[in-house]
Amino acid sequence: MSRLDSFIARMQAQRDCLNFLKPAVAALPGPILEVGLGNGRTYDHLRDLFPGRDIYVFERTVAAHPDCIPPDDRLFLGEARESILRAARTLGAVAALIWASGSAPHSMGLPRREATCSPTSRSTSRAGSACPSRRACRRTATFSTGSANVR
Ligand SMILES: C[S@@+](CC[C@H](N)C(=O)[O-])C[C@H]1O[C@@H](n2cnc3c(N)ncnc32)[C@H](O)[C@@H]1O
Repeated sequence: MSRLDSFIARMQAQRDCLNFLKPAVAALPGPILEVGLGNGRTYDHLRDLFPGRDIYVFERTVAAHPDCIPPDDRLFLGEARESILRAARTLGAVAALIWASGSAPHSMGLPRREATCSPTSRSTSRAGSACPSRRACRRTATFSTGSANVR
């Protein structure tokens, strides 16, 4: 598989997983958290999937497409390991979905234990009844994809 094929597969997997989670997340109260804004592609897709929903984003330094930058009051700047704690103090444990892409989840202060999930072996999830791998989980859906080294 070429690197181009691999990139396309990863992006398709990410979109498929988000689309798959939509009904389950739509049924839950609470905001959506995205850890790792990057260029804002996923944030943009989350906005499309969940119009009007509060989406909070965690990022070290914003370098996203200008159309995909969250408002200041929805942005937690700095190291996720610290800003997630800040957010928890402000928002409480209320998220309907936590989506993370970038570093290994545990390096961002997210749970170390994830379930491998389709459609790519690089995707990891902890998403309750919404989890494509059908693993049991608590109410909050945590979903991460990317180059994380998943055990
Ligand atoms: C692969 S990109 C995210 C791509 C994004 N989902 C998109 O669709 O464009 C990963 C992002 O996570 C951020 N990131 C990685 N580790 C982080 C951490 N520990 N704390 C805060 N931000 C982090 C990086 O700065 C980078 O912008």
